Amino acid sequence: MLKDSFGRTFPYIRMSITDVCNFKCGYCLPNGYQVDKSDNRKFLHLDEIKRLAKCFSELGVNKIRITGGEPTVRKDFFEIIKVLKVDAGIKKVVITTNGYHLDKKAKLLVDSGLNGINISMDSLNRETFKNVTGHDRLPEILEGIKNLQELGFENIKINAVLLNGINSSEKDFDAWSKFVQINKIDFRYIELMQTGDNLEYFKKYHSSSKIFKNYLNENNWIYQTLGKDAGPSINYINPEYKGKFGIIAPYSKDFCKTCNRLRITSRGDLRLCLFGNTGISVRHLLQKDDQLNELKDLILKQMQFKKESHYLELGDTGSTKNLSKTGG
Ligand code: 5AD
Ligand code: SF4
Repeated sequence: MLKDSFGRTFPYIRMSITDVCNFKCGYCLPNGYQVDKSDNRKFLHLDEIKRLAKCFSELGVNKIRITGGEPTVRKDFFEIIKVLKVDAGIKKVVITTNGYHLDKKAKLLVDSGLNGINISMDSLNRETFKNVTGHDRLPEILEGIKNLQELGFENIKINAVLLNGINSSEKDFDAWSKFVQINKIDFRYIELMQTGDNLEYFKKYHSSSKIFKNYLNENNWIYQTLGKDAGPSINYINPEYKGKFGIIAPYSKDFCKTCNRLRITSRGDLRLCLFGNTGISVRHLLQKDDQLNELKDLILKQMQFKKESHYLELGDTGSTKNLSKTGG
């Protein structure tokens, strides 16, 4: 079992498989994806992913989230899901996606045996969606969600980054409220995080999630106490609604206490915290099957370096330039 010196365990890995993204979200890649000239390492190969996942599986990991960039841009995306599930025996394989072509991919996703999908969708308003992401793709994503539901896919979550003056009005909250009333989907607002690249944007659009919390309190939403393997989201339920609401507030005091995840970057660096400076490459130990024990030792040893908390509130973003490298 992976355990750090603060008693936290890590049954959950977020694995980025590419930095490439086809969207241009204002807070992440406002000018679209640019090749990183300072890093010419290739993205993890399918075989490397397989070895890494096997190792994690033996270290007690039962859930892997595939992230990007946009993970579905990889040609071998569906093979990766299969490798994680079948070869590595990971129980829950889930993805985070921007929903690009979700209408066309829904069936393939369901057939792949995927256990959950998080869709990043900052607004239910088509214009706003287009302005934030640079793509007029809200309709195809909504269609994709409908397709998933019709195919009986259960575990759908939507994340929106809370952006002051863009998607933070009572009207926006009401629109999401109507949405979760009739859809069995969890919707969560994430507080905008400062990264190395987005300081100006952050200053302009960051908003505390308190405004949404107040809205939930005023509208009879009930705070749901944390479950055993709760993630960072604080959830709210309302018996008259099929879906749930949630808030992810990385700037809140106790955010890191429930940390249960480690990250792997698309080039095979183990990152102990989204905003830490600690990251080492494990890639040299992903080259042959017989390196498994050495890899396990290295990962286990790294756990002692995991810090108690990030220092985001001090404006320290660590080495995170934007989240397209680590998948949020
Ligand atoms: N702050 C908060 N969330 C972010 N995301 C990307 N960049 C940021 C940021 N600076 C979100 C995306 C997606 C998830 C992968 O991370 O919108 O929901
Ligand atoms: Fe792409 Fe996600 Fe970054 Fe938007 S937030 S540009 S969808 S990686």
